[in-house]
Amino acid sequence: MSDTTSLHPSLAAFIAESRAIADSIDDPADCVIAIAPLMHRLVGSADEFLQPNHFRSEPDHYTRNAIHICPSGNFSLFALVWRPGQWTQVHDHGSWGVVGVVRGMLEERAYMAADGEITADSGIRLKRGGIVLLNPGAVSTFVPNPDHIHMTGVADNHETCVSLHLYGRNMDSFHIYDVAAGTRRMINVPHQDSD
Ligand SMILES: [Fe+2]
Repeated sequence: MSDTTSLHPSLAAFIAESRAIADSIDDPADCVIAIAPLMHRLVGSADEFLQPNHFRSEPDHYTRNAIHICPSGNFSLFALVWRPGQWTQVHDHGSWGVVGVVRGMLEERAYMAADGEITADSGIRLKRGGIVLLNPGAVSTFVPNPDHIHMTGVADNHETCVSLHLYGRNMDSFHIYDVAAGTRRMINVPHQDSD
């Protein structure tokens, strides 16, 4: 997954250009501004480079199919497949991220920390924020500190969604939140390898 020489040219170009941006821009907010147009271009050519293994899905939960995971630990790209009614838990990422929708409609529901930046795993007051509905071609971004806390998924009555997710680290763990209890905990997150 770290070797880009065998990738489709549009995917290889996206990875090379995004990595160059991530390596040269320290501020995550500036980083996602620079990468968002690249993701917009990438989702437009997704049908050319996505392989059957990127469309793998599971009946009982959304599926994370790895496209490229950089061994340096500061960059990872996934194709996520969401069958109708499949959602994440409320979570953060501890990283910047850029999301692009390939097919279907992805819904993001935002949560806001009522007391500012979260520094402990309990006593967390989250308020529900707005939602966005992302059609094919749409791009969404987020930055850490304070983390963009959200849940993402596809409504029961919609078609399966496929989306591309680029993160500024190997996204193999993140916090999930129990909103009612006011707590969070770190979980390890599995993914399907690309080969
Ligand atoms: Fe997320």
